[in-house]
Order: sequence, then structure tokens, then C-alpha cells
Amino acid sequence: MATKQKTLQDAFYETLKDVYYAEKQSVRALKKSAKAAEHDELRQAFETHAEESANQVERLQQVFEIIGKPARAKTCEAMQGLTSEMEEDLEDFEDSPAADAVLAACAQAVEHYEIARYGTLKTWASQLGYADAAKLLDETLQEEKKTDQLLSEIAERINVEGSETDAEEGTTKGKGGRKAT
Ligand SMILES: [Fe+2]
Ligand SMILES: [Fe+2]
Repeated sequence: MATKQKTLQDAFYETLKDVYYAEKQSVRALKKSAKAAEHDELRQAFETHAEESANQVERLQQVFEIIGKPARAKTCEAMQGLTSEMEEDLEDFEDSPAADAVLAACAQAVEHYEIARYGTLKTWASQLGYADAAKLLDETLQEEKKTDQLLSEIAERINVEGSETDAEEGTTKGKGGRKAT
């Protein structure tokens, strides 16, 4: 006997469970990143987004309610990979001048994953006729995009400040030295 064909509805529910897990994990990662960040703006961005993300977890619970399914988390291997890379980088770059740049980069990898997932979920919700769910998912999607953009801007400043320090050291130590621009 042929097994029952899975539908877009199933894909939606499975992906929702994946993102539910990922989102909870991102709250923990953001809190940890906020503690580790040296740069004020970066720390503030992490703290703000940790709060937003806790709210995003609640939005997901509302989406489960809308589709009439229990809110369950399913291990998201992708987010596990991203957060364990972050842990590794945190150890490797701890107390180094590049630590904040590395933290911001790890956080952006997480945001990009979320943007991909929420984009898909929003589209599927619309296609399946869950207009209210699509609206909730879009609110989260916009927050993820905004956070990614903010992290890009902060990262550019962090990186410039980091390389300026290097350049200054180079010119003061060097005989005559290169002219810092
Ligand atoms: Fe999120
Ligand atoms: Fe996020």
C-alpha cells in the first residue's frame, strides 16, 4: 500500500517546529553574545534582539495555535551548527582585537538563516490560506532583516576601528612609517 503523500501543510508544520527550536536557541546565543561583546553598540544590538527574539518565540506559538497544532520543537541541525561554530570562535578569538568582529559575523549567519526560514514560512502560510499567520511571520521577518542590517553597519565600524589601531601601531613603530590614511 502506498504511503500517504506529504503535503505543503506538512512541510509548513515541520519547518515551523524547526524554526521554533532555532528561535529558542537564538535567544540563548544572543544573551551569550551580549555578555561577550566589548563594543557598546554591538552589545546593545544583541540585548535588543534577544528581547525581540523572545517575542518571536511567542509569535511562533501563536502560529501553532492558528494552524491548530501543538507547539513542538524539532532539533534544528543548522542552528546547532551555527551556534557551535560561534562557541568555537568565541574561544579562539577571546580577548583578541577581532573578537567583536567575529561575534558580529556569527550573529549575522544566524540572522541569514532566520531570514531564509521566515521568508519561506511566510510564503507558505499565505499559500495555505493562513493570512494571520503570514502577518505574524512577516513581522518577525522584518525584525530579522533590520537586525542583519544593523549588525552590518556596526560591523563596518568595528572593523574600521580595529584596523585603525593596527595602522597606528605600524606607523609609530616603523622608521618614517607609512602615512596612515
Ligand atoms: Fe529570530
Ligand atoms: Fe534573529
